[in-house]
Amino acid sequence: MNPVFCAIDTDVLYEAKELVDALNGEVGGFKIGLELFTAHGAAGYRTVAACGAPIFLDVKLHDIPNTVAGAITSLLPLQPAYITIHASGGAAMMRTAAEAAAAAGEGRPKLLAVTVLTSLDSDDLVSVGQDADVGEQVVRLAQLARDSGLDGCICSPEEILPLRAALGNDFVLMVPGIRPSWAPSNDQKRTLTPRQAYDAGATHLVIGRPITKAQNPVEAARRIAEELA
Ligand code: C5P
Repeated sequence: MNPVFCAIDTDVLYEAKELVDALNGEVGGFKIGLELFTAHGAAGYRTVAACGAPIFLDVKLHDIPNTVAGAITSLLPLQPAYITIHASGGAAMMRTAAEAAAAAGEGRPKLLAVTVLTSLDSDDLVSVGQDADVGEQVVRLAQLARDSGLDGCICSPEEILPLRAALGNDFVLMVPGIRPSWAPSNDQKRTLTPRQAYDAGATHLVIGRPITKAQNPVEAARRIAEELA
């Protein structure tokens, strides 16, 4: 199975549709984020998901348990493969969300925790009253997510090894911040190549611009798949 989820980071629906149609079968699935989902909602989602590939719906839910569970229930008809929720919303929120997802049975969406956003450093954590050690906070929130019934978490390349060590192998690690050696790093710092991230224990890789902004996106996706094979 191809572990690459290509990030479709645009709010222009026809661009998203063109990309997905071109790349369908060349990657393992597509990530739809807040940009596209807030602009086009469920109808836009369906336009993209019509390709039939697994969709990672990165909406980072965070609210009281009842509201998050309601949002998950509202998303079930779209049949996303993965949905993100903030682990800092707490154990009850995550447990209730997992119960709501379970109602879809066998093909339910897997729930992935967002731990500490990579845009935050230790000063930011202290300013919101959290432990200053980002690494420890990431592991703590990932453990809480697993204990609350979530299936995995989003993590940065440098968090793969400590999370694998703390959580064992039966936990999805969906990893952005991936750059093939031949692609520009853009605004990403501390990247790993697809091969390095996979070998470190990532189960899925989120890759956007190295594919979508390549001169030939299909060729770029194939090159990444070959490096992972
Ligand atoms: O284009 P690029 O490969 O950098 O895209 C990475 C995707 O992963 C984007 O959708 C970005 O928002 C997302 N992401 C990230 N870093 C995080 C969390 C999400 O790059 N820590």
